[in-house]
Amino acid sequence: MRTKIVAGNWKMNLNAGQTQTLLQELISQLPQTSAAVMVAPPFVNLPQALSQLQGLPVEVVAQNMHYADSGAFTGEISADMLVSIGVKTVILGHSERRAYFGEDDGMLAKKVAKAVEKGMKVIFCFGEELPDRYEGRHFEVVQRQLRNALFALPEGAWRQLILAYEPVWAIGTGETASPEQAQEMHAFIREQVAGAYSRPVADAVSILYGGSVKPGNAAEIFSKPDVDGGLIGGASLVATDFLAIVNAFR
Ligand code: G3P
Repeated sequence: MRTKIVAGNWKMNLNAGQTQTLLQELISQLPQTSAAVMVAPPFVNLPQALSQLQGLPVEVVAQNMHYADSGAFTGEISADMLVSIGVKTVILGHSERRAYFGEDDGMLAKKVAKAVEKGMKVIFCFGEELPDRYEGRHFEVVQRQLRNALFALPEGAWRQLILAYEPVWAIGTGETASPEQAQEMHAFIREQVAGAYSRPVADAVSILYGGSVKPGNAAEIFSKPDVDGGLIGGASLVATDFLAIVNAFR
C-alpha cells in the first residue's frame, strides 16, 4: 500500500511570526487522516517549525539542498546541515529552481544521490512546460527528466523517493491539470519506473500531483488510482485550505 501524502511547499513565504501563526492554526485544526502531512517552510524557519510541530504527525521538509558535503558554496545548505537539525526530507527539482537557478538534470542527479546517501527522503519534482504539452512532447519530457536524474540510482534508493509531477503550466496559475490528465501522466510515470526497475518498485513509489491543487479539486484528483497525494503551493499558506486538502483523503 503506497503512502498517501499531502505536502505544503511554502516557497519564499512567511517570516518567523507568520510561520508561528500558520503552524498554530494547523496544529489547532489537525484532523485524523490516513495521509502523511508535510510542510516545507523556508530554511530560516525550519528549526522553529520542528520545535512547534514536535511530537505531532506533521513532517518538516526542506525546499532544497546542495549536492556537496561542505565548502565554498555561499548561501547554500548541505544535507548534513539539514539532518543535523532533524530535517529528513527535501524537495528537489522544483520547476522554479530549474527555471530561475539553472538546475538541470545532471545537477539534480547529484543532489538526489547525495540526499539518498545521507538517508534522506526526496520529493523529486518534474513536469513539462506548456509548449511541450501543446506540441505533444509532455511524455518525452517527463521520461527524460526521470531517466537523467533518477534512473541511475540503485533499486534500494527508491524506498527514499517520492515523485511529484508538477506540470509547469499549472503551477500558480489556477490552471489545474484535469484529474484525467493527472492520472494519464501518473500511470505513464509508474510504467517508466516499472520498465527501469520492476513492478514492485513502481507500485510502491508515491506519485504526488502539484499545480493549483485547491480544496475544490483535491478530492477528484486524489481519487485517481495513480495519484497518491499532492504537493501544494498557494493553498498551503492558508490553514483551512491546506487542511481541507488533507481531508480530501479522509
Ligand atoms: O510545489 C508545489 C507548487 O509548485 C504548486 O504551486 O500554488 O500551484 O499549488 P500551486
